[in-house]
Amino acid sequence: MPDKNLNTTSEKRKVIIIGASSGIGRELAKVFSYHGFEVGITGRREQLLKEISAELKTKTYISSFDVANTQTAIPALESLIKQMGRVDFIIISAGVGSINEPLEWQYEKETDETNVLGFTAMANVSFKYFLQNGSGHLAAISSIAGLIGNSLAPAYSSSKAYISIYLKSLRNKALKTKKPIYVTDILPGFVRTAMAPGDNLFWVASPEKATLQIYEALIKKKRVAYITRRWALIAWLIKIMPSWILSKI
Ligand SMILES: NC(=O)c1ccc[n+]([C@@H]2O[C@H](COP(=O)([O-])OP(=O)(O)OC[C@H]3O[C@@H](n4cnc5c(N)ncnc54)[C@H](OP(=O)(O)O)[C@@H]3O)[C@@H](O)[C@H]2O)c1
Repeated sequence: MPDKNLNTTSEKRKVIIIGASSGIGRELAKVFSYHGFEVGITGRREQLLKEISAELKTKTYISSFDVANTQTAIPALESLIKQMGRVDFIIISAGVGSINEPLEWQYEKETDETNVLGFTAMANVSFKYFLQNGSGHLAAISSIAGLIGNSLAPAYSSSKAYISIYLKSLRNKALKTKKPIYVTDILPGFVRTAMAPGDNLFWVASPEKATLQIYEALIKKKRVAYITRRWALIAWLIKIMPSWILSKI
């Protein structure tokens, strides 16, 4: 479990985690609850959300919706925020991704619908809520993959680049308001979840370690967080690497 010294929060702080039915989002729900937050959790698999809710020590709110269906996802998030009364953090973890070497159209489409359209809809509702509220913290999980034009997963890597630039734009917008509105881009390398199976991965973090580092970064109001921290080195190498080397990845 996380270091209790990081428990800098006052009572009844609230977080919404979009995509909390498994993996990083699920573990984040546990970490925030451990630190006393009331937690709103979302995902399509309602039964899993109920199971997580039963495990958490603090009050939880469940909302089951598909982010890719923006017509229903937008009012669903708005209504969850209203139900919770006030929300301090909204974290967008929902995403899909896997290798798509044959460029199956259905997969490319689903990836963009979830990671681009769904993400944008969730970020839009969240940021406008924080603007109206005068404070708040939006975070989303992009990826180190967004720094690379990955030939094995074009939709995935480009959708993650989109998320990073979109967050940067919102951060610049927040700065202009001079209000305490923060935006964090979380870039994991590999985290052991359903999305990153297999033994041929390197520097794979456990969800527990990854989410503790994410929590720390959010409490410190970091603009960008590499997860785990040593992936900052890889990010730096990618940025200075000649494109002929990058194209081989
Ligand atoms: N694991 C890694 O190595 C890694 C590395 C870099 C970035 N990431 C990013 O981290 C985030 C979390 O992934 P994870 O590793 O924790 O994988 P995961 O266990 O598969 O979790 C994905 C979560 O997103 C939700 N989700 C997916 N599509 C959705 C949709 N259309 N509508 C609503 N919710 C949806 C899933 O819930 P439902 O299926 O119940 O809807 C689930 O809760 C993703 O954005 C991923 O790209 C992961």
